[in-house]
Amino acid sequence: MTYDSDSATVLDDPIITERLEVALRLVSEAVAEDTERAVNRDTTKCAKIMIMDDEPLNIKIVQKYLQRHGYMRFVTTSDATQAMEMFRTERPDIALLDIMMPEVSGIEILQQIRADRQISRIPVVILTAVGDASIKQKALELGATDFLTKPVDPSELVLRVGNALVVKSHYDHLANYSVRLERQVRARTAELMASRRGLVQALARAAEYRDNETANHIVRVGRYVGLIAHELQMPREIAELLEEASLLHDVGKIGIADAILLKPGRLTKDEHEIMQQHCAFGRRIIQHSIEGNREPYGTRSQLELVEPSNAFAWLTPVAAMIAQTHHEHWDGGGYPLGLRGEQIPIEGRITAVADVFDALSSKRPYKEPYAFDQCIEMLERGRGTHFDPQVLDAFLRRTDQIMQIQIDLAGVDRRGVSDRCAAAERLEPQRVAQALH
Ligand SMILES: [Fe+2]
Repeated sequence: MTYDSDSATVLDDPIITERLEVALRLVSEAVAEDTERAVNRDTTKCAKIMIMDDEPLNIKIVQKYLQRHGYMRFVTTSDATQAMEMFRTERPDIALLDIMMPEVSGIEILQQIRADRQISRIPVVILTAVGDASIKQKALELGATDFLTKPVDPSELVLRVGNALVVKSHYDHLANYSVRLERQVRARTAELMASRRGLVQALARAAEYRDNETANHIVRVGRYVGLIAHELQMPREIAELLEEASLLHDVGKIGIADAILLKPGRLTKDEHEIMQQHCAFGRRIIQHSIEGNREPYGTRSQLELVEPSNAFAWLTPVAAMIAQTHHEHWDGGGYPLGLRGEQIPIEGRITAVADVFDALSSKRPYKEPYAFDQCIEMLERGRGTHFDPQVLDAFLRRTDQIMQIQIDLAGVDRRGVSDRCAAAERLEPQRVAQALH
């Protein structure tokens, strides 16, 4: 193949272009490596070197050799009993350790260094006149980085110290990189969780907007659920998961016709049956987001499967279970499945208490809010029939915080006094259960 003199024509050839790219990459990598080596050399010269030898003259000799090659920072001791204290306070980049010292041997010091997490990664070069192979083997087992035989050969000393420092510098770089990476992952995870929380709240509010007058109902229910979970000694991660998952408890109301959902008066039996379908709708809406049209979950609590360290991943199944079971009653008189007692998943039992309390204590189109004491009295009436007694007790032990949540998240009327309100009647307590769809 021939090329004309126009360089553009040559560069158009894909083979030439590819080879040029490879060559450029190799040159660039070589330059980067040289730069890194130079940086490492400079960096290692700033390293703090610790020398321990019971003979002060030996320390001076070693220090002199290293100073001649540009090393500037030293800490030294001939008192082996001070060695560990000096290690912990000075945190040297490398240690040159004599193995045969009175009072405390170099082997013992090495053992203590490797056992202390704060200093265990410091390279330790053993200085010894002893030719005993068993001592060397013991030192290697304990994590000695290298050996130098006395009398120390200056060029060997400098090379071994330099190599150990370069390795440490790479290790430090990796360790720092790993810390930075971990920080980035944590930050990204927090962003992802915040974004997910925003989406969950948006979806929950979309459903709530059609039904309730107060904008903060779902947030308050979530907080009450979190409080109960804490009071039941659940791990913090599980309590946070429940708080978030419970926001979606009524998302299925999106599927209920306005004529029924917004009806101000009492629902007929047929209408009530349709209203009850919001549990199944909610479960399907949530479940579909990850599993398509699979058969519904059983009635096993999803919390039994959650690993606290990975609770983040369990939002959807737990939320689906809450949507399905938050209207079940402890005595079996609830809906949609008529579960009884501990057949009802704990997440559903907790949300039932939180949801009913907030409905009682909030203004609705068909009623004014009940006073706090009245709400508690009405919850107590549901003990053992509507509510799990233990869950109710947990809720009642947190009344101070409940009142605070009511203050912090007092509802703001979105639509003011609506036509629905004008037509609404004040419900007597016995009619509240029917009104709490
Ligand atoms: Fe509901």
